[in-house]
Amino acid sequence: MAKRRFYDCNLSEKILYSAFLVLMGIGYLMALTYLYASHELHDGEPGLSINDVAETYYGNRSGTRLEAALRGPMSAYISTDDRTEIVAWLKSGGDKAAFESNVNPVIERQCLMCHSSEAAKQFGNIPPLDSYDSVRSLATVDTGLSLLTLVKLSHIHLLGIGLVLLGIGFIFCLAELNPYLKYALILMPFTAIVADIFAWFLTKWDPVFAYTVVTSGGLLGVAMAAQIFISFYQIWFLKPRKALKDSA
Ligand code: HEC
Repeated sequence: MAKRRFYDCNLSEKILYSAFLVLMGIGYLMALTYLYASHELHDGEPGLSINDVAETYYGNRSGTRLEAALRGPMSAYISTDDRTEIVAWLKSGGDKAAFESNVNPVIERQCLMCHSSEAAKQFGNIPPLDSYDSVRSLATVDTGLSLLTLVKLSHIHLLGIGLVLLGIGFIFCLAELNPYLKYALILMPFTAIVADIFAWFLTKWDPVFAYTVVTSGGLLGVAMAAQIFISFYQIWFLKPRKALKDSA
């Protein structure tokens, strides 16, 4: 008996496979949208760039969140002298006595009208600056996602995507295709997701691996899309060779 192909499937199977492929396709697009929206503004520039990816995992170690804000979005609210004062305090280790004498007066004068704890409660993106502790919490070096968070995200991704790939690949096995191309397309997304997640950890260590994250993520998408489109097309449009001859 010949190998089983999509044209050997009954209508129930075709409907089931198609519905699953469409669902996974939509799910993947949602994942991409979320990825874009949540990473886009990491480096302060609109659009998802390699820098956004690097800063997600590696952080921005050239400074603290407070210094980054004072040089970036908050620079309009502070004079150069006052900023130098706060940056010097950050560089000196940020102790409490120097905070009370040099930093707090500036913050009270320049920042508190917007950064009170009431405002912070009302708007999630405004950090409160009304105490030593709250300012101090913005004075730590930004080192990106923590290892624990990465492990958490890794296991969710590996287990979840593994099952999705099993489902899509199981259907794709019925496609009529050059066998070597088929083996490669089945193996490719599994390799890509492992490389992608491995590269998250490497990027935490060296931001250059952000390129690996993006490349392997792209390969995962390409392989999944290829499996979905080839399967979907063959389910509904591929006729067995014999039938082609009969109709010719
Ligand atoms: C006119 C209101 C206003 C003033 C004055 C102001 N800020 Fe802000 N600040 C905001 C708003 C709104 C945000 C959140 C949106 C954003 O990040 O642009 C913010 C965000 C921040 C952040 C968080 C940035 C991040 O990493 O997400 C820091 C830190 C900060 N401000 C520090 C300061 C300091 C220090 C001063 C005083 C020199 C100051 N701000 C003065 C309105 C203000």
